[in-house]
Amino acid sequence: MPFSIIRNDITKVCADAIVNAANRKLLGCGGVDGAIHAAAGAELLEECRALGGCETGQAKATRGYRLPCRYIIHTVGPVYQGGGRNEAALLRSCYDNCLLLAERLGCGSIAFPLISAGIYGYPRAEALKIAVGAFQDFLESHEMEITLVVYDKGSFQLSQGLYEDISSYIDENYVASHTDPELERMRSAMMNFPPMAAYAAPASPSAPAAPMSAPEKKDKRNGKKSGKKQAFNLFKKTESASSEPAEEIYEEAAMPMFTSAAAAPDLSSIINARDESFSQALLRLIDEKGMTDVETYKRANVDRKLFSKIRSDVNYRPKKQTVVAFAVALRLSLPETQALLSKAGFALSGSLKFDLIIRYFIEHNNYDIFSINEALFAFDQTLIGC
Ligand code: APR
Repeated sequence: MPFSIIRNDITKVCADAIVNAANRKLLGCGGVDGAIHAAAGAELLEECRALGGCETGQAKATRGYRLPCRYIIHTVGPVYQGGGRNEAALLRSCYDNCLLLAERLGCGSIAFPLISAGIYGYPRAEALKIAVGAFQDFLESHEMEITLVVYDKGSFQLSQGLYEDISSYIDENYVASHTDPELERMRSAMMNFPPMAAYAAPASPSAPAAPMSAPEKKDKRNGKKSGKKQAFNLFKKTESASSEPAEEIYEEAAMPMFTSAAAAPDLSSIINARDESFSQALLRLIDEKGMTDVETYKRANVDRKLFSKIRSDVNYRPKKQTVVAFAVALRLSLPETQALLSKAGFALSGSLKFDLIIRYFIEHNNYDIFSINEALFAFDQTLIGC
């Protein structure tokens, strides 16, 4: 994933380069600077001494020593003094110069702390915006894995308004998942419907009953109600929830496609009749939206190699967050997003925080994958992309 956010101690992160939020003397101190020097060992200080300091906004590299990285890139963020002393531009140049230096050193991956957001007092939401803006611009025209390492949750703040907005959206739209354990159990039992043929209406009263599937035979032996009976009872229970008598609801739900054995084609034609795959739907949508492959996978926070795998494998099985990432990249509406998810067997529900946050951004026409990932991270959810 070209851009990700993780909770960790940066001295434990494996990357080609890790960035140190240093001071102008480059001689170590507290915060992340102190942690890096302590973990890297005394040789780091020796090399830093030889660098002769570093100006605010600039970046200099040393070896990684005992850290799991090839290089440590030291940069000096601005001390926040209210915002009127060019702090934003200086902070931005820290990120830009670190990324350019990492590229010059041939790094394929780099990990950043939130520069100036600690001892130097930069307001965290602002510091985050500047960092992510620099990553987004760099990734437009470069390939690199950028990780923002958040040491403590407190040091990661979305803008107040956005956080509150998403929180109330989640509260308003959260569909309390069915708490009736019996109902939940029965519902999952229903997912193991016996094969389609078992639902076919018997040709005549004397016709032999549909063959019992193996699980049903086992249930019969153990005196348990068969999956079909269980599912039917489930509908008995929910009959009150609907005006239709249970039989109709059950038959509808249990026989989504065929009403009689005669119309139920065999399994191979069901499989052949299935519609386009996720990969086919994705490529079709890219064409329909008039986008290029590069534009799409960059906007989806998906790396090039993975995209070419999806393009070349018609049966590629994506993760849900990958499908959502492409839906965001293609700026799909909610129904279009649900349709693309269904190609891979997923859906956006009303009872998962991840799903509600995605729905929030789509309903607000905000398709900026970096903002979406910041919000997902703030709510402890899986990021999108891959
Ligand atoms: N791993 C990742 N992030 C960390 C770690 C760590 N081990 N320790 C601290 N952080 C985070 C802080 O939570 C903060 O969000 O790094 C961010 C930057 O905080 P500081 O380390 O205080 O850096 P900064 O605000 O840029 O101040 C730099 O502090 O350590 C001194 O010598 C340094 O004088 C310089 C000043």
